[in-house]
Amino acid sequence: MDETAETTRAAWAVASQKYEREHEEHLAAGRTAELLPSEVATIGALLPGADVVHPLSGHGLDDLAMVRLGARSVHGLDYSPAALGSAQRRADALGAPCRYTRATLPGSGLPDACADLVYTGKGALIWLADLDAFFAEVHRLLRPHGHVFVHEAHPLVPLWTWEPEEIRVRPDRGYFERQHVNDTFPAHGAVEQQHPLAEVVMACTGAGFTLEHLAEHPEPFWRPDGATAAAWDGRVPNTFSLLARRV
Ligand SMILES: C[S@@+](CC[C@H](N)C(=O)[O-])C[C@H]1O[C@@H](n2cnc3c(N)ncnc32)[C@H](O)[C@@H]1O
Repeated sequence: MDETAETTRAAWAVASQKYEREHEEHLAAGRTAELLPSEVATIGALLPGADVVHPLSGHGLDDLAMVRLGARSVHGLDYSPAALGSAQRRADALGAPCRYTRATLPGSGLPDACADLVYTGKGALIWLADLDAFFAEVHRLLRPHGHVFVHEAHPLVPLWTWEPEEIRVRPDRGYFERQHVNDTFPAHGAVEQQHPLAEVVMACTGAGFTLEHLAEHPEPFWRPDGATAAAWDGRVPNTFSLLARRV
């Protein structure tokens, strides 16, 4: 693993300890966790009876939401021991059919054709330098006609300032830069990979998927406590979602 990747892993090892410290709060959140309405509209019909794999599963609250919507199983993959351990503890406490395995994506370590749906996003693709390798792995994991779904921060997001009055572009960021260092939280110091939207789509279709849905959304998937940025007032994109079928 190169130095950048090692710095990022170390930042996540520390940041994920929050899920252990705040076990009770996250357990309470897990009891009622829901996917976003736009996610339910796009993948709700795919979930009943589905075996789901969730690369970069983080706190795993979305896994509990997918189980509630009918998923038969969810297998979360992450490289942070604290994220994995706390997600497993919550799932076990709630009797949810979720299991968590340590993996450094894009390699998953899972067998071929083990999933009906691969679900990921909400701060996932930015940690992967090689999207071609990632979507090739996702393709391998899916059963024929299985789907991959991504709900992710829009690649323009690193450019927006969090100023409340006016939407501004950060002078130190560019849409076509390859990476930048996270200077906020939770993973302060981690190196984020930048993937323009076209790169995401081409990596996905290039791996052998047919695009079924691609949308840009004004709402961020995450608002840091207390922050109200003008960039979140509905005028510019903050997230995108993609659904593609394995051919
Ligand atoms: C912002 S969280 C997002 C995950 C999830 N959507 C959530 O909301 O918790 C990013 C997660 O990706 C994990 N991660 C980052 N790079 C990874 C990699 N190459 N392989 C596996 N896990 C990774 C981190 O440990 C962290 O738990």
